[in-house]
Amino acid sequence: MRTNSTLPDPTANYVSDEATALTRARYQRISPVYDRIELLMERRFRPWREKLWQFVCGPRVLEVGVGTGKNMEFWPLNCKMTAIDLTPGMLDIARQHAKSLKRQQDDLFLSDVQHLELPSAIFDTVVSTFVFCSVPDPVQGLREIGRVVRPDGQILLLEHVRIDRPVIGTLMDFLAPVIVRLNGANINRRTVENIRIAGLHIERIEDLDDMGMFKLIFARARA
Ligand SMILES: C[S@@+](CC[C@H](N)C(=O)[O-])C[C@H]1O[C@@H](n2cnc3c(N)ncnc32)[C@H](O)[C@@H]1O
Repeated sequence: MRTNSTLPDPTANYVSDEATALTRARYQRISPVYDRIELLMERRFRPWREKLWQFVCGPRVLEVGVGTGKNMEFWPLNCKMTAIDLTPGMLDIARQHAKSLKRQQDDLFLSDVQHLELPSAIFDTVVSTFVFCSVPDPVQGLREIGRVVRPDGQILLLEHVRIDRPVIGTLMDFLAPVIVRLNGANINRRTVENIRIAGLHIERIEDLDDMGMFKLIFARARA
């Protein structure tokens, strides 16, 4: 497992980017209580996480926005995992989690998905769960994922998105500025559209709830 001291200054890329610094500050603030805040929701999310990880192919897998490491129990044993996150407080908890699961051989480090310090076309699968609601420039982050995944590799995303219905969609737009200040998440992100704008190829989308808010998205860098 990498330690921060082995890396160049991890804040160097985004300290000048106000929106990214703000996102980081919000997650840093809630990191000590994040798992407790999410406890009830996690009962709903867990089967979706488990489902996503069944599709992961290795051997080289990147998890973007690993957070406190809620996906780690599903990380395939035969895969070499790389996991990044923007927020030191979240990553510290993820590292403890990795240690308790004896995953110290995996590579966890601070990084911004908008500017990944990784070579191109090296991962067989890139995974991200509930991250693109908070990345300040999601299209740039998705482009970066498209860059680091192999041309024949897969991109698996579990995301909540703006519900595409007149009243509730407008309500989400109205509440979004308040909620983002509380927990860093923009509840009205149009992530499917952002994936297309980023030039990724969507193979399949599975709606996980009746309202179309939670989606499992299967994509590739190109068709
Ligand atoms: C809602 S949490 C989800 C964490 C985890 N993926 C999960 O499923 O529980 C969002 C995470 O994305 C991270 N994040 C936000 N913007 C990011 C960025 N630009 N690059 C990398 N990680 C980012 C945050 O630090 C936070 O840990």
